[in-house]
Amino acid sequence: KQNVRESLYLVSEYANTYFQNVLHNTDQGKAIGLSYFKERGFTEETIKKFQLGYSLDEWQAFSDEALSKGYKLEFLAATGLTIVKGEKHFDRFKGRVMFPIHSMSGRILGYGGRILTNDKKAAKYLNSPESEIYHKSKVLYGLYHAKQSIAKEDNCYLVEGYTDVIQFYQTGIKNVVSSSGTALSADQIRLINRLTNNITVLFDGDAAGIRASIRGIDLILEQGVNVKVCTFPDGEDPDSFSKSNTLEELTEYLKENAKDFIQFKASLLVKEANNDPIKKAETIRDIVNSIAKIPDQIKREVYIQECARIMDISENVLFSTLAQINKKEN
Ligand code: CTP
Ligand code: MN
Ligand code: MN
Ligand code: MN
Ligand code: MN
Repeated sequence: KQNVRESLYLVSEYANTYFQNVLHNTDQGKAIGLSYFKERGFTEETIKKFQLGYSLDEWQAFSDEALSKGYKLEFLAATGLTIVKGEKHFDRFKGRVMFPIHSMSGRILGYGGRILTNDKKAAKYLNSPESEIYHKSKVLYGLYHAKQSIAKEDNCYLVEGYTDVIQFYQTGIKNVVSSSGTALSADQIRLINRLTNNITVLFDGDAAGIRASIRGIDLILEQGVNVKVCTFPDGEDPDSFSKSNTLEELTEYLKENAKDFIQFKASLLVKEANNDPIKKAETIRDIVNSIAKIPDQIKREVYIQECARIMDISENVLFSTLAQINKKEN
């Protein structure tokens, strides 16, 4: 078993060298992949730091190269980099820019590959499948590069995508990780929690991003981690926003707009239906439901006080609602 895992690591690491080599040293890689990254505003240094690469738009260029170097088809297939169909084999990633996913200690676990066209029929990102070395719900993209800054800043920014991590990092905010398309998991939060007790959720400024933030909040609170939320203008994500702002502007924006989860939920209410009493009651109940997830009793009490103040309602009624929720759950 250990030998199998080691073989998969070796294949993944070979692929990492291969995809980077294709990006930097082939005509197709330079003309298509490298210029794509440059257009997105990534510097040479950033591209090298995150070990970005390119997969040729051919059926089996990578697999055949790897086989010729002595890597076994069995292990190529087990990483998902090669797809075996009967007697034939194909590359999973074709004509995509490649984002390697590192373990906390820097080993390559899998890849995300982005298409370069705006073809709405093809999936924008294709990801490595689960494997003996890649368990999506236990990995965070960017954590390898971010871990020291997370500990130093005592805060972790949580974003949705690969490019959000990279653009933030390049702009100078390095304590940033992404769950990369998979729903945030308790394991991922625990990974962050080894380094800090504070997470700031920075999801995309669209309806999907807001929904994902709301789901994330309760999960984070349940782990006993403090959570803030900072939203971006509609249509923007951390990548686009940090690309068009300086580090000073970005830092200022985050400072001004990061709200604790109660203020965040209250602000959604203000946006939707400021003076609708039914909506307001639902929001209050929703906030108390989130507070009920917090394991620490002192924090729960402080947040109840905060909720009472913001929503202009008595603490007593909030405490008795909290007691009802706890009773239902036990
Ligand atoms: N994602 C995925 N498969 C898709 C679409 C998205 O795995 N078909 C994941 C990727 O990890 C992506 C993240 O979800 O980075 C966020 O999705 P989205 O906001 O749509 O993409 P961006 O990261 O903004 O990508 P880009 O800026 O390159 O368009
Ligand atoms: Mn396993
Ligand atoms: Mn999105
Ligand atoms: Mn996005
Ligand atoms: Mn984006």
